[in-house]
Amino acid sequence: MTHAAITGIGAYLPERRLTNADLERLVDTTDEWITTRTGIRERRLAAEGEATSDLAARAGLAALGDASLKPADIDLVIVGTSSPDKIFPSTACLAAAKMGASCAAVDTMAACSSFVYALHSATCAIESGRAKRVLAIGADALTRHVDFTDRATCVLFGDGAGAVVLEESSEPGVLGIDLGADGTRPDILEIPVGGSAAPATCERIEQGLHYVKMNGQEVFKFAVRVIPQTTRKALLASHNDVDDLKWLIPHQANQRILDTVADRLGLPHDRVYSGISTTGNTSAASIPLAVNDLYTCGRLMYGDLLALVGFGAGLTWGAAIVRWTKEVR
Ligand code: UT7
Repeated sequence: MTHAAITGIGAYLPERRLTNADLERLVDTTDEWITTRTGIRERRLAAEGEATSDLAARAGLAALGDASLKPADIDLVIVGTSSPDKIFPSTACLAAAKMGASCAAVDTMAACSSFVYALHSATCAIESGRAKRVLAIGADALTRHVDFTDRATCVLFGDGAGAVVLEESSEPGVLGIDLGADGTRPDILEIPVGGSAAPATCERIEQGLHYVKMNGQEVFKFAVRVIPQTTRKALLASHNDVDDLKWLIPHQANQRILDTVADRLGLPHDRVYSGISTTGNTSAASIPLAVNDLYTCGRLMYGDLLALVGFGAGLTWGAAIVRWTKEVR
């Protein structure tokens, strides 16, 4: 059987930092509230004129470089995002052009689970023999959709992108994936206006309905329930157990979510990756950014077992069990 394995990884964070102290000057909040309730100390903001496709292309080129490949070597580019440059063309199309690639390109939109969905599509394309090399990117510039007068949401999000190259391999890399969606509760986390259901009108924009709206407590409860569930299902599909995991790498939304899922899975907290303090919630980018961080710090060894776990609006969720098949950096 043909397997899919990660052969390259890269990331990109915009230069501009927005600290909690900066937010204290914008809305009625405190550094103390943000750090104790979320674990976030600062986040990055895309520069003016810098779109999601720019972030995606920077991360994609870094991943290609890490895999010693050129853009022309890639058969398919998949961008997981929920902050596309435009409704169309797809962000993947635009990012591929910015990288100098002219292969097939498509977006997956599953909110903060988008990267795991992209990884699933990439793995299926390789395992079926329809592609040999796929670039799977998670990229978001959600700060473009956040109301910077709403303290309940504006302190949470940051911008960024991460990417992996997947290649066909005799060695199994992506071992098992579980995905799920429940579209019966869309209002828990949504951008209500700007799509076909409710196009942007002056009146709706004046009401701020084009911004992220979230019931934080409901999302929190969903996250701490679904992360352990989907992780266990993906582990079962890959014939592994929680104890086999070197790293649980969940979507980075709140430090309290990370701590709770560690306890529920019976994992020591230091085996659950946390990078939220410096990036905030970068949505689809958070998982590949995390993997890249561990790799570049030399904390991923050949053979390590990873669980990459996303959750987000939809509601959507997904977990991928990955055997790390690159040598330590
Ligand atoms: O990738 C997307 C996934 N999103 C998530 O995973 C979010 C999950 N949820 C959360 O992370 C948390 O629910 C939040 C961090 C969003 C909120 O934390 P919380 O502990 O659930 O706070 P809360 O919403 O219950 O609000 C508690 C209080 C409220 O004041 P009152 O009504 O008790 O007087 C809020 O108005 O905190 C207030 N508050 C703030 N205070 C200072 C809300 N935001 C802020 C703020 N600064 N930024």
